[in-house]
Amino acid sequence: MEKVAFVTGASSGIGRATAALLAGSDYRVFGAARNIAGVKPIPNVEFLQLDVRDDESVKEAVRAIVSRAGRIDALVNNAGYTLIGSLEETSIEEAKQLFETNFFGVLRMSQAVLPIMRGQRYGRIANVSSVVGFVPAPYQGIYGASKHALEGYSESLDHEVRQFGIRVSVIEPGFTRTKISQNSQVAGRLLEAYESERNRVLDAVRENTASGENSFTAASAVLEALTARSPRPRYPVGREAKLLSRFRKLIPSKLFDKSLRKQFGLGAA
Ligand SMILES: NC(=O)c1ccc[n+]([C@@H]2O[C@H](COP(=O)([O-])OP(=O)(O)OC[C@H]3O[C@@H](n4cnc5c(N)ncnc54)[C@H](OP(=O)(O)O)[C@@H]3O)[C@@H](O)[C@H]2O)c1
Repeated sequence: MEKVAFVTGASSGIGRATAALLAGSDYRVFGAARNIAGVKPIPNVEFLQLDVRDDESVKEAVRAIVSRAGRIDALVNNAGYTLIGSLEETSIEEAKQLFETNFFGVLRMSQAVLPIMRGQRYGRIANVSSVVGFVPAPYQGIYGASKHALEGYSESLDHEVRQFGIRVSVIEPGFTRTKISQNSQVAGRLLEAYESERNRVLDAVRENTASGENSFTAASAVLEALTARSPRPRYPVGREAKLLSRFRKLIPSKLFDKSLRKQFGLGAA
């Protein structure tokens, strides 16, 4: 039987590549975006309007898929954005807004889809995290916190739903060439004290993103997680993320700290 997949944030970047790859791999694919009128079509991908911050929008999108396809076998929680600013500069409201998409959006989507997967006694959920789900993200600290939260959530959920034939994995891309930098938000109350370091880190992030992995590398990891008989809890994506994931566990924390500060152009303090 043809499997049905639902990919959030399919208008751009990793979500778009994932929708295209799954559509070419025997899935019937539903892709979601907030404004479907502005989305460039992808062959064999059916687009739906969805804002992951909105309960009704999530329920409506899930209802529409079930009425058209009768089931949902795979959910890819990919929608997300990043927020630039030191943690002192970021307001509570800005932090809450980011969590509303990057974390509660995933919770909302999963809660809407799980009853269907439980009924089928089968399902796969791939949550797009990041390397900053397991390493620090200076000057994108709230974004990093949302991905750390997503990792903890996903691992617990995997234990709870395994009894129903459902498995949950996180996908951990490193820098990937997408519109993430253009779509990022900046904290509203910037302080001069952080300006020079913040700019250095942002330049490093922008450069690394522009020369990062192709989106299809992350999409392939999603496909692997969705199709593995026994999926792994974590899929670091690309050479750098795989190395980082290993180094984080193996090398002394002082050394890791030093090399992270060097990569982002932070002082040796
Ligand atoms: N690029 C990287 O270097 C990188 C590295 C690690 C992890 N990631 C993660 O990969 C995921 C995809 O990011 P990307 O790099 O592909 O960035 P992107 O090109 O900016 O795409 C982001 C996608 O998220 C969607 N989105 C944002 N807010 C949404 C909302 N409230 N409701 C529904 N959809 C929403 C956008 O759709 P619309 O605006 O059309 O609605 C867009 O399709 C994110 O979770 C990001 O954290 C990216």
